[in-house]
Amino acid sequence: MIDIALKEISKDFGGEKILNTFNLELKTGERIGLIGRNGCGKSTVLNMVTEKLPYDTGELSVRKNLKISYLKQSPTYQSDFTVKMVIQSAFSRLSGMATMIKQLEREMSEPDCINLEKLLEEHGELSSKFEVEGGYEITDKTDRICQGLKIDHSVLNRLFKTLSGGEKTTVELARVLLQNPDILLLDEPLLDFKGTILSVSHDRYFINQIANEVIELESGQLTHYIGNYDSYKQ
Ligand SMILES: Nc1ncnc2c1ncn2[C@@H]1O[C@H](COP(=O)(O)OP(=O)(O)OP(=O)(O)O)[C@@H](O)[C@H]1O
Ligand SMILES: [Mg+2]
Repeated sequence: MIDIALKEISKDFGGEKILNTFNLELKTGERIGLIGRNGCGKSTVLNMVTEKLPYDTGELSVRKNLKISYLKQSPTYQSDFTVKMVIQSAFSRLSGMATMIKQLEREMSEPDCINLEKLLEEHGELSSKFEVEGGYEITDKTDRICQGLKIDHSVLNRLFKTLSGGEKTTVELARVLLQNPDILLLDEPLLDFKGTILSVSHDRYFINQIANEVIELESGQLTHYIGNYDSYKQ
């Protein structure tokens, strides 16, 4: 199945052609590494896929109902956003539902409420949707991901804009993983990430990008190689 297709896409910035009849297909389950020199247009491609940037000519299609999460190269948020607010923005749909549910409860408790039955029905439907979509697990999931990525509780109340590049990336990683997306777009996510990574993959491009040591498991034994997949092969 094709999730995302870019056909003959072109994009100009101030008269300079950044993308020239660019074609790309992303099929379900594929893991593609997009490489190229600085300024060649890699981030531009991701910005177009997420509709943050228009393209000049061509055709871009995204399969219906796909949940796309995007880990940006230099994420910025409103200056008063705390780390916790950034992470919990992964649940904006559920938060919207929670606000609606509270609003309905307020309306139902009014002494002069005239359409109680209808409101009750709406409340019931919304509440079960909220539960099915994991509304009651927001705190648990947030705690778990913070633990996993070693985001300390004391960091949660800091302003996002005061974090270092690497810290911002870690927080963004938490946010996009919590969104539980069908497609993950990662723009240089690991350049700034200072933490430890143990990644299991068959994908040599992926391993080449992130690894400074490769461990091979064969017949129950581990062998260590310093360097990425290519140096392991030599
Ligand atoms: N909004 C914009 N307005 C004008 N020019 C832009 C805009 N966004 C990007 N560009 C230009 O388009 C070119 C491609 O930028 P882009 O950010 O896509 O490159 P990149 O491949 O992601 O580079 P890097 O490896 O440095 O992240 C650059 O020359 C950049 O200056
Ligand atoms: Mg870029």
